[in-house]
Amino acid sequence: MTSVPEVAPNATAQEILRLGVTAAQGPVKLACSFSLEDVAIIELAREAGLEVGVFALDTGRLNEETYEVADAITERYRIKIDWYFPRHEAVEKLEREKGLFSFRESLDNRHECCHIRKVEPLGRALKELSGWVTGLRREHSVTRTDLKAIELDTLNGGIIKINPLLDWSEAQLLDFATERRLPQNRLLKQGYRSIGCAPCTRAVQPGEDARAGRWWWENPEHKECGLHRR
Ligand code: ADX
Ligand code: SF4
Repeated sequence: MTSVPEVAPNATAQEILRLGVTAAQGPVKLACSFSLEDVAIIELAREAGLEVGVFALDTGRLNEETYEVADAITERYRIKIDWYFPRHEAVEKLEREKGLFSFRESLDNRHECCHIRKVEPLGRALKELSGWVTGLRREHSVTRTDLKAIELDTLNGGIIKINPLLDWSEAQLLDFATERRLPQNRLLKQGYRSIGCAPCTRAVQPGEDARAGRWWWENPEHKECGLHRR
């Protein structure tokens, strides 16, 4: 059974990554949504010489601007992205029976869409891995305050889950991105601060919470798509 290493309270993101990758004792990949967090992790892993692959879940509803970041990353780091798509039969059934915007009608419908387009493909991606890395930060939302930098993902076969930027602030992340000239989603300049699927993401107003634009019609405690169930 894989054991979870102790993480010192002042450990850097690279130290967390290295500890997690070593503990996983097998293939580790970053789940990449092309957020600034995820690009920063690729940069840090590359700098530390760590073997961390990259996979992405193409929900079929991503913004064009997000695909542009994917392209920029492929160029910059000369990496291969392992794309995962939803099962086409499930998407066809959903869209034929419930239409294209069923996720706006109820929380159950929203979870159904997220399950088909994100959670099921994530399960397939993780089956091949001993560990996965995410760009989760504690600051993101009330649903993420009690996460750990390295945890055992018992819902996904007991593999290691590494959240190296857990205690980074948004300002720290933006500084790092500027300093390293990281590829950034063009939508960030249009007031977006957290970007998921196009129909479920909007820009936020100054003073609003960073994730206020995600599933903006729902309460904050519901703003998870199921990728990070514990
Ligand atoms: S979500 O659960 O609300 O959609 P969020 O957008 O905050 O997640 O992203 C948190 C982390 O989840 C990302 O840093 C990334 O590791 C992972 N993630 C989210 N969406 C995707 C995606 N489409 N493909 C791969 N990983 C993703
Ligand atoms: Fe569907 Fe919206 Fe979830 Fe994307 S974020 S999978 S479009 S409900």
